[in-house]
Amino acid sequence: KKKISIAIDGPAAAGKSTVAKRLAEALSYVYIDTGAMYRALTYCALRRGVDVHDEKQLMNVLNDTYIELKPSPAGQLVFANGENVTEEIRNNDVTNNVSYVAKHPAVREEMVKRQRELGRHGGVVMDGRDIGTNVLPHAEVKIFLLASVEERAKRRHEENIARGIPSSLEQLKEEIARRDQIDSQRAVAPLKKAEDAIEIDTTSLSIDEVVDRIMCIVYERV
Ligand code: C5P
Repeated sequence: KKKISIAIDGPAAAGKSTVAKRLAEALSYVYIDTGAMYRALTYCALRRGVDVHDEKQLMNVLNDTYIELKPSPAGQLVFANGENVTEEIRNNDVTNNVSYVAKHPAVREEMVKRQRELGRHGGVVMDGRDIGTNVLPHAEVKIFLLASVEERAKRRHEENIARGIPSSLEQLKEEIARRDQIDSQRAVAPLKKAEDAIEIDTTSLSIDEVVDRIMCIVYERV
């Protein structure tokens, strides 16, 4: 059977990573969370006191940060220079700064290079914002996942509560909307549906339903 590439793009908290992980498991493919790479850089930069608007300094950090994504039974683990930063890259400080870091052309160029390298053998499910449009323009399957801001904030809110993290629905709505705005309006590889991507609005769908729909599309193409 052919090992294809699957690109999953869409706005913040649309369920991309949950769905991508499930697809990768079902197909025995590698899951690559590109957002985690931008988050790892953001975390390392903030820790060093680097200004997220300073491209040169960010590049210095990126050039000496080796980022690894490792599958584990508990989910994907993220390492920066061998240090496990899986939890840290999800904190609010990182979440609210990552879109500024991801705006810089030089940062994106280096990240895209690393991502293409990880995807070069196929058999990957890659999720992000510019996978179908830019990182893997020849991916056999491209999916654009959507959901209303209200629904996405609600899902994140419930996730936070289940994890015992303090959470405000109103604040989440604002943060998600702001991140989408920055990601959609940047000059380089903005968040955008690829022309040949299939759009799925997940607002009223369960995870199983979304995964099933995508699996049907995949089986038409392998
Ligand atoms: O997917 P996640 O929400 O973890 O991504 C965090 C941020 O990383 C996004 O809001 C976006 O600014 C950036 N990103 C990106 N391109 C990607 C993946 C993520 O610009 N391919």
